[in-house]
Amino acid sequence: MSIIKCNELLYIRRSVPDVSKIEAFLVDFGLIPAARQGSSVYLRGTDPVHHCYILEEGPARLLGFAFAAKSEADLHTLAKATGCAVEAIDEPGGGQRVCLQEPNGYAVDIVFGMATPAAIAVARQPVNTGSEPLRRRELLRLPRGKATPLKRIAHVVLGTPKVAETAAWFRDTLGMLPSDEVFRATGEAQIASFLRVDKGDEYVDHHAFLPMRSDDVGLQHVSFESQDIDAVMADHHFLQSLGYEHLWGIGRHLLGSQLFDYWNDPLGYAHEHWADSDRLSASAPTGVWEAKEGMVTQWGEPATERFRHNVKP
Ligand SMILES: [Fe+2]
Repeated sequence: MSIIKCNELLYIRRSVPDVSKIEAFLVDFGLIPAARQGSSVYLRGTDPVHHCYILEEGPARLLGFAFAAKSEADLHTLAKATGCAVEAIDEPGGGQRVCLQEPNGYAVDIVFGMATPAAIAVARQPVNTGSEPLRRRELLRLPRGKATPLKRIAHVVLGTPKVAETAAWFRDTLGMLPSDEVFRATGEAQIASFLRVDKGDEYVDHHAFLPMRSDDVGLQHVSFESQDIDAVMADHHFLQSLGYEHLWGIGRHLLGSQLFDYWNDPLGYAHEHWADSDRLSASAPTGVWEAKEGMVTQWGEPATERFRHNVKP
């Protein structure tokens, strides 16, 4: 029995030496500046969440990330069980949080009561792939010259030598559920644990957090949901035209099934665009895989060594 059961991933927090440079990348990637405080910038997607990305000025470093709590009472349950305090968030969006530390030393904020702004409408045209045309005499014209605004943050992948210990902490503390567990080979070390949040009968992303085997500790990638498959494809060419470093894709994952595309920011931190994830409810069984069968694509080139080892502190 876990201490609480958390809701979705809310935001990632990084410090960077040049906030405006990484902000420019994130805007090109599809995020929208929502607020500023001091030298910090808060960016959002089109979903009704105040922010999903925080950039602070400082040495290049992942500071942590946050999940939503289901209730204020859960914050107090968590505080009592961990000895941490419930504190007011003195940042744009407000709310309250309990600030925990996961086994690799990163801060994990559990947040309740952050402001919920209106969703930002994005006009997308239907696609004529079924037998009945959804677009009749309406010509498909995609916006050009800028990224399609992203919907939301979706998951964080942490490189760690302690996959099993890290996964256990997220299961025991936040009630996360293993969708798929990957081992180097049968009976050998665990190399990945795809964890989803527990919202009972509600269908959630295949994974919201994933510790992945690495000698180095750090961010392997952070992932965002695109509006649709066309957006992933079009934004690939847009980011390419701006000269950003492409890391892996486009392809279709096996575990999670997302259509994916990975890009490095100017500091070499990996960011994923995806569309069309598998969604599971709490009752879905856990898959168990050997790496050579699980960590593959359904189509698209296999993961490059450069992608696998792209872990930044
Ligand atoms: Fe991912």
